[in-house]
Amino acid sequence: MTRYEKYFIPVYKRIDKVITGGEGSTLYVKDGEYLDMFSGLGVNVLGYGNKKVNKAVVEQLKKHNHLSNYFETESAGKLAKYLIEHSFAEKVFFSNSGTEAVEAGLKIIKKYGKNNGRKNIITFTNAFHGRTLGSASITAPDKSSVYNHSGMTGVLTLEFNNMKDLDMINSESAGVFIELIQGQGGINIADEHFVKELKKRTDKYKVILMIDEIQSGMGRTGKLLSFENYGIEPDLAVIAKAIGGGLPLGALLANKEFCDYLTIGEHGSTFGGNPVACAAGLATVKQINSRKFMYSVTLKGELLKEEVCKLKKKHPDIIGRISGMGLMIGIEILKNEDKIMGLFEKEHIFVNMTQGNILRLLPPLIITEEEIHRFVKVFDKVLPDL
Ligand SMILES: Cc1ncc(COP(=O)(O)O)c(C=O)c1O
Repeated sequence: MTRYEKYFIPVYKRIDKVITGGEGSTLYVKDGEYLDMFSGLGVNVLGYGNKKVNKAVVEQLKKHNHLSNYFETESAGKLAKYLIEHSFAEKVFFSNSGTEAVEAGLKIIKKYGKNNGRKNIITFTNAFHGRTLGSASITAPDKSSVYNHSGMTGVLTLEFNNMKDLDMINSESAGVFIELIQGQGGINIADEHFVKELKKRTDKYKVILMIDEIQSGMGRTGKLLSFENYGIEPDLAVIAKAIGGGLPLGALLANKEFCDYLTIGEHGSTFGGNPVACAAGLATVKQINSRKFMYSVTLKGELLKEEVCKLKKKHPDIIGRISGMGLMIGIEILKNEDKIMGLFEKEHIFVNMTQGNILRLLPPLIITEEEIHRFVKVFDKVLPDL
């Protein structure tokens, strides 16, 4: 039992360690230093204690920490401008989280559907888009959740990567919602020809294509937004996690056609676009959004994948499917998967599991090659104990 567990509604199984600080990819715990291989669930792309992010936060706090959206703030304005200048988007709406950014996009799709007599919204098997009822409605049925698909009607679930299923996208469809690299769903990568065909169909039938970049965006796959790897652009995209530099922030990005679709009063948020979160976000995105940085993510991702593939050859009975792009990697564990987090923890490495048996690696993007080798060495050491 963790120190304060009895005070919390028990929706999380927490790791029983007290974190006292961190630097780079390392977290400080009472009993020593730990390598963090999931970076606050993909948030801390620059690791811990990034000086530029911390400075931006302190500077903003000296001015004001909150004003409400009745005022324009310099930091939200600058972040919005930066995102527009470096993406397909024409305008942005800031929320506090990923699921709220999804809700904003769903409102556009709902309105578009209503205005044009289009009844359904498309989602895919194994999708995860958040925990509000709207987002949960397009999150693929998870047997353990009574909420999925309970919030909205008219949702059609197609099989991820099934070309034939794309035939169900037609002039009855208002919008398609997709993660090109499914995170929570087990690090499943959309095939290139599947994505190209999806884009073709959404264009042909004038269906809104909305891409969820909450986990895969912000440099995670070696591009600012993962769809850049496919050479396509969506109508809408949602980002969150890393965009707040460790503070709560999400954003809906909309193209020219849909950027003015919601009007005054149709959507809003008290804290959305909080100036401190935006200052942290701008300091973060400016540090990651360079060719050199993105290339380093690609190279380190390849190194990590290559090394894990070598381990698979050595332990074929324990390691199954390996998938991933950049520093977003999934490793299927074929036996005793419930032991793996504990075994890594004993070796001072924090890891995360998803879908029960997928070891999901989302390290800080600043992880070093030495740290990657350390992870691989420990993995090799603990595998026989499974
Ligand atoms: C792909 C994806 N979409 C949506 C969300 C929901 O984001 P949040 O937890 O910030 O609401 C997540 C969170 O893990 C996610 O990975």
